[in-house]
Amino acid sequence: MSKKTGTKETISVFGAGWVGLVTAACFADLGFRVIVRDVIPERIAELEEGIVPFYEPGLTEMLARNRERMHFTLDVAEAVAEADVLFVCVGTPPTYSGDADLSAVWAVIDELPPLEGRAILVMKSTVPVGTGKKVRAALDERGLDHIGYVSNPEFLAEGTAIDDFMHPDRVVVGAFFESDGERVSALYKQIDAPIVRTDVFSAEMIKLASNAFLATRISFINEIANVCEVTGADVEQVAKGMGLDRRIGPHFLRAGIGFGGSCFPKDVSALKQLAGNSGYHFQLLSAVIDVNELQKRRVVGKLTQHLGSLADKTIAILGLTFKPDTDDMREAASIVLGSRLLAEGANVQAWDPMADPDSYLHGARFCESILEAVEGADAAVIVTEWNELRGLASKDVREAMRRPLIIDGRNLLDPDEVRAAGFAYECVGRPSEQHAGSAGGSAVNSERNPS
Ligand code: UDX
Repeated sequence: MSKKTGTKETISVFGAGWVGLVTAACFADLGFRVIVRDVIPERIAELEEGIVPFYEPGLTEMLARNRERMHFTLDVAEAVAEADVLFVCVGTPPTYSGDADLSAVWAVIDELPPLEGRAILVMKSTVPVGTGKKVRAALDERGLDHIGYVSNPEFLAEGTAIDDFMHPDRVVVGAFFESDGERVSALYKQIDAPIVRTDVFSAEMIKLASNAFLATRISFINEIANVCEVTGADVEQVAKGMGLDRRIGPHFLRAGIGFGGSCFPKDVSALKQLAGNSGYHFQLLSAVIDVNELQKRRVVGKLTQHLGSLADKTIAILGLTFKPDTDDMREAASIVLGSRLLAEGANVQAWDPMADPDSYLHGARFCESILEAVEGADAAVIVTEWNELRGLASKDVREAMRRPLIIDGRNLLDPDEVRAAGFAYECVGRPSEQHAGSAGGSAVNSERNPS
C-alpha cells in the first residue's frame, strides 16, 4: 500500500532510458504515481519539458497525458522518500569480455538509504543469473534487509514497447519472499496476462533464455535461407510451412541480414559468457553469434559476384537502424556492412529516415533522400525494411543508378516485380533468376545473376 495515499503503491523508476521511461509511462497510465530518477541533469530537464530523448511510438503522448502523476528528479532521497516499489531500469551494456556491465545497477544499490516500511527493489534491467542473490547479500550487509527484492524482467521490443507492456504474453515475477512477489504481481492486476511466479534465479534465466532462443531461431532460419540459395528452395515458403506446425510457430522466422539491437547481441553473449564463467561451454550460442556475424557480411559476396572488385564502386546503403520504427543504431547490421564496404574501397552513400548517423560509419556520405543515395550507385542494398523502401524498384531509381542492381537484405520487395522493372535483384534465401520456376529444389551451381 502507498505510504502516501493508502491506495495504489507509489513507484520509483531508476533510469530514464528506454526501458525506464516506457515502464514509468505505462505504470502512470495505469494510475500509479511514478517518480523517475536519472543521473543525467539534461535528461531530467528535458523530461520535465516533455521532451523524450529517443523515438518510441506513442511514448511522448503517454508521458504528456500522465504528466500530473509523474515526477522527474536527480535526487535519490526524493526518489525513494515516498516509494513503495523501486524499479531498477538502468543499462547493463556488454563489457569487452562479453559479461554484462553491472556498474549502473550497483550504483543504485550503493546509493539507497534506509527506507520506511517494506519497500521492494524490483530488477527490470537484464542481469546475469545470480545477480539477485548478490544484490540481496549487499542489501543485507548494508543493514537494508527490510528492503525486499524481486526480479521482474522486461520483454519489450523497440517500436512496440507500449503495447508489449500493456498486452504482454506473460509477466515474470521471481521473488525470495512470497509476499514480495504478491505485491509486485498486484501492480499488474489491470493487465490481462498470465503471471509466472518463480524463484529469483529462474526469473533471471527466463529473460536471458527467451532472448537467446529468439536469436537462435533467427540464426537458424538465416542458415536455412543460405542453404535455400544453393538448392533452389524459397525460405519464405519454407518458414511458412514450418511455422504452421504449432510446435514451431510462425514468429522470428524472417530470414535477413542478421539480428541487431540493444538486446539480442548483448544477451546472447551474456548468457554464453555466464555459462562459460561457470565452466560450461554453450556451443549452440557460439554458433548463433557466428552465423549472425557472417550473415551481415554475405551481402559483400553478393555484391562482388555482380560487380567484381568493390574498389571505387558506389554502393547505396538503405536503412541504417537495427530495425524499422526506431532511431536505434546499436549493433545494426548497417555498421558492419558499411564498414566492410568502406574497407573494400567502395564509396558508401547512406540513407535512413531516423538514424542520427554522425557517430557511425565514418567515411560514408549521408543522404537526405533515397533518390540522392542511389544517384550514380552501382548497387542499392536494403539493410532495414523501412516502409519508404517498398517503392524502391521505380523508374526514377533505375535511371538514377549507374547499374540497376538491388540487394534486398530483408526480402522486402517482390522479386518478380523488381525484375520486371528492369533491375537485377538479389535477396535472402529466395530463388535467383536461375532458380525461379525450378520448384524442385535440386542442388545447382550457387553462382547467381552474373551481370
Ligand atoms: C528484442 C526482444 O524482442 C524483446 O522481447 C527484448 O526485451 C529486447 O530484444 P528488439 O531488440 O527491440 O526486442 O527487437 P526485435 O523486434 O526482437 O528484433 C531484434 C532483431 O532481430 C532485429 O534486428 C530484427 O531485424 C531481427 N529479426 C527479428 C530478424 O532478423 N528476423 C526475425 O524473424 C525477427
